[in-house]
Amino acid sequence: MTECKCSQESNIEVFSPFSSEQLAQIDVIVAKYEAKPNYLIPILKETQEMFGYLPAQLQRHIALGINVPASQIFGVVTFYAFFNTVPRGKYLIKVCTGTACYVKGAMEIITKIESELGIKIGETTEDKKFTLEAVRCVGACGLAPAVLVGEDTHGIVTPGKIMDILRRYE
Ligand code: FES
Repeated sequence: MTECKCSQESNIEVFSPFSSEQLAQIDVIVAKYEAKPNYLIPILKETQEMFGYLPAQLQRHIALGINVPASQIFGVVTFYAFFNTVPRGKYLIKVCTGTACYVKGAMEIITKIESELGIKIGETTEDKKFTLEAVRCVGACGLAPAVLVGEDTHGIVTPGKIMDILRRYE
């Protein structure tokens, strides 16, 4: 009889397993904070900086490391917008949809990006180069409509210009 290959692992873990060497890097972060649950946020932040996102496998490894339920980690990760449970692209495109940018055509820019890159808001291109987000005022209203790509702010962007801007990013 064939042995069952069933697994308790989620799909994410089946397709994106992390090696024991990678998990050991998390152990270093946890040890730096003396495995104290009080330091959960900085532990999660450093882990995300290292891996780019916080899938269930990493959350569970941290939970074991600091001896708290995995559900607690999941609650924190999903509460704060700056934590991601899915991989992000190399460059995060943030299209400002605050009032000034909205009235000056932010949605048309989003539509253009979506059709050119084949992704919707919150999604990442297949080549993992770009992730698209819509955000609130980024403090550059005088340059509306504004689009952030990575650390760069681009102002007075139009649907006609946005792809030229994105092509500058390798
Ligand atoms: S509304 Fe877009 S920068 Fe302020």
